[in-house]
Amino acid sequence: MTAFIDLVRSRRSIRRFLPRAVEREKITACLEAARMAPSAHNAQPWRFFVVDDPGLRDRLCEKAFRGIYRVSRFAAQAPVVIVVLVRKDIVVHFVGRRIQGTTYHLIDSGIAGEHLVLQAEELGLGTCWMGWFSRRGVRRALGLPRRYKVVAMIPLGYPASRPPRETERMPLDEVAWWNGLGEGAEDGECGKGPTPER
Ligand SMILES: Cc1cc2nc3c(=O)[nH]c(=O)nc-3n(C[C@H](O)[C@H](O)[C@H](O)COP(=O)(O)O)c2cc1C
Repeated sequence: MTAFIDLVRSRRSIRRFLPRAVEREKITACLEAARMAPSAHNAQPWRFFVVDDPGLRDRLCEKAFRGIYRVSRFAAQAPVVIVVLVRKDIVVHFVGRRIQGTTYHLIDSGIAGEHLVLQAEELGLGTCWMGWFSRRGVRRALGLPRRYKVVAMIPLGYPASRPPRETERMPLDEVAWWNGLGEGAEDGECGKGPTPER
């Protein structure tokens, strides 16, 4: 069995997929991992709209990745696209946003989505969190009622290639502060930050 830290280290965003179908049991295992996620007040606001019908996937991707979102078209190669939704009508979320300015529904769906992503990694599947797409296009393609907010899309499939090395991460002493503010925190962390790679 893969150690958890190895699983976390080996995961990376996959943007090229084989045209091979993903077994329903594997998709279900990913959804099951997401279902077990914690959530504020145990509200479980997430909904996962799974698209593995090729016709619907094509219609979804056509509408989601138009215009300024064309750069995201790589996801249309994936045999499965999972759309992460959240319910917008949960009282705890409304209170949290108004009183604390905390968007619990986004925290909850992020945790659940990452459970799904890590389970996929363990099963040899590739995923990529995606935020750059047309919410309106997704809404129209899937006929979503207004009470659901579209949070993210996660293409899922067997990787055609994997980026050769880990995407750079900030050093631990810059992101973890022990018993006090980290160096540079007071002055806006000038000069620090990630250098993202693709
Ligand atoms: C909320 C979120 C939204 C993202 N949106 C996109 C996206 O629209 N397109 C894309 O190619 N990658 C997207 N990514 C992937 C990030 O670029 C990627 O996770 C980051 O560069 C680190 O690389 P790694 O996932 O390979 O470790 C997104 C990631 C997250 C968490």
